[in-house]
Amino acid sequence: MSNLTVQMRSDAGPRSAVRSLLRLWPYVRQVRVRLFLACLLATIASCLGLVMPLVLKWLVDGPLTSGDLSGIWLGGLVLVLLGATEAGIFGVRRWLTARPLADVEASMRESLYGRLQRLPSAFHDRWSSGQLLSRGTADLGQVHAFLAQPLTFLVVNAVTFVAGCVILLEQQWVLGLVLLVPVVPLTVLCSWFQARHVLASRRAQDLEGDLTTLVEESIRGIRVIKGFGRHRSQARAFEKMVFEVRGVELHRARLLASLSGMFVLLPEIAMGTTLALGVVQVADGTLAAGTLVAFLATVLVLRPVVESTGPLLAMCNQAATAVDRYCEIMDEPLPTQDHLPDVGLSAPPRPAALAFENVHFQYPNASMDAPGVLRGVDLRIEPGETMALVGSTGSGKTTLVGLVPRLYEPTAGRITLDGQDIADLPRSQLRTMVAVAFEDPALFSASVMENVLMGGEAATETDGAWALRVAQADGFVHLLPSGRTRRWASRG
Ligand SMILES: Nc1ncnc2c1ncn2[C@@H]1O[C@H](COP(=O)(O)OP(=O)(O)O)[C@@H](O)[C@H]1O
Ligand SMILES: [Mg+2]
Repeated sequence: MSNLTVQMRSDAGPRSAVRSLLRLWPYVRQVRVRLFLACLLATIASCLGLVMPLVLKWLVDGPLTSGDLSGIWLGGLVLVLLGATEAGIFGVRRWLTARPLADVEASMRESLYGRLQRLPSAFHDRWSSGQLLSRGTADLGQVHAFLAQPLTFLVVNAVTFVAGCVILLEQQWVLGLVLLVPVVPLTVLCSWFQARHVLASRRAQDLEGDLTTLVEESIRGIRVIKGFGRHRSQARAFEKMVFEVRGVELHRARLLASLSGMFVLLPEIAMGTTLALGVVQVADGTLAAGTLVAFLATVLVLRPVVESTGPLLAMCNQAATAVDRYCEIMDEPLPTQDHLPDVGLSAPPRPAALAFENVHFQYPNASMDAPGVLRGVDLRIEPGETMALVGSTGSGKTTLVGLVPRLYEPTAGRITLDGQDIADLPRSQLRTMVAVAFEDPALFSASVMENVLMGGEAATETDGAWALRVAQADGFVHLLPSGRTRRWASRG
C-alpha cells in the first residue's frame, strides 16, 4: 500500500493552488450569494478602519490645535461609532456564512461517501482505508477552514491594502513610496514560499492518511497483535510514523515562519524609515503634524492586513492540497452499466443454474506478465446442487466466488444465471439473486439483528432470529447491552 501513496505523491508535482481551489466551485455555487455578501460586508468593515486615521487627522489639525472642546468630543464619538460598526458588520458576516459553509462541507462529505460506496472492489484494493478516511475528515475540515477565512480575507485584505496605499500616497507620496518598497521583495518571497509549501502540505496530508491507516489497522487487528505479542513492534512502527509526520509539520512551520518573519521585518524597517523622514519633515515645517499622525495611523491599520498574508497563504495551500486529494477519489471512474434499469427487484430469489463459460480473470493491479488467476474455467451448478471447491491456498477459490456477485468482472468468458449473462444485469438486481458468505466477517456498529439482516432487504426479524439459532449465537447475543455489537454505538 505504501507503494501506492508514493506513486500518488510523485504524480502530485507542483501545480497551481488556484486551479485546485477552483474545483470547489460546483459545491460553493449554491451558497455563492451569501459568500459574496459576507465578503462585501467584511471589505466594507475593513475599509471603515481606514476612515479612523482621517478622523484622527481632522482632530489633530482642527479641534485639538484650536482647543475646540465640542469638536474633540464629536471626533471621539465618531471614532467610537466607527469601531462599533466595524465590529457589528464582522459579527453579521459570521452569521451569514456559518450555515452555508457547514452545508458545503456536508454535501462534499456526502458525495465522497456515496462515491466510495459505488466504486468497485478493485479501487478499494488499491486504496488504504486511512487515505480514504483522512480525505473525508481532515481534508474536508481544511476546505471548510479555507472557505470560512482565507477565501474572504485574501479579497478583503487586497482591497483594504490598495485603498490604504491610495490614501497614503495621496497624503504624502514620497513617504508612501518609501513604505511600498518592501512589496517587491515580499512578492518574490511569496512565490518562493508557494512552490515549497504546496509540496510540504501534500506530503503532510498524505502522511496523515498513512498514520490513520496504521491506527485503524492496529485497532481492527488488536486481537492478532495481542495474540502474537506484537504490541511493541506495532508501537515502534507507530512512533516512527509519528516522528515522520512531526518532521514534515516542522518543515512546514519553518517555511511559514520564514515568510511571516519577512512580512513583519521588511514592513517594520520601511515604517521606521518613513517615521524618521516624517519627523524631519514636520520639524522642517514642510509637513503638518496631523498628516504624519494620520499617515502612521493608516500604516498601523494596514499592518495586520499585511502580516496575515503568510498564514492565509498557508491555509490556501493546505486547502488546495485537500481539494486535490478529495478529487482523486471523485475522479475515479464508476463501474459501467449501473445505469441499466432495475427490474424485478421485489421478485423473491429463486433457485437458478449458475454457469461459468471459459472464464478468465486477472486482478487489475497484477503485473502485466503474470499468468491469470483463473484461466478458462468451465463450471455448471444446477439448482439445489451443493458444490465444494477444494484447492491449495492462493489457487483462486475466493477469486472465483467474488466474480458471481460481480465484485470483479471476468477478463474473458461469461458467467450466467439460468442462461442470462450476469454482465447484462444491473448489479443491484444481481445482488438480490446471489448471496455470498465471506470468510472474514465484518461487523457494523449496529445491533446484532441489523448486522444479520444486512444480507437481505426483504428479510424479517423472524428470519434473523432463525439465522442466529442456526449459528448457535442466539444465547450470548441476548446478553449484549441493547443487543449491540459495539458499546459506543449505543451512545448515538
Ligand atoms: N485483491 C487482489 N489483488 C491482486 N491479487 C490478488 C488479490 N486477491 C487475491 N489475489 C491473488 O490471486 C490469487 C488467488 O487468490 P485467492 O482467490 O484468494 O485464493 P484462495 O481463496 O484459493 O486461497 C493469489 O495468487 C492471490 O495472491
Ligand atoms: Mg480464499
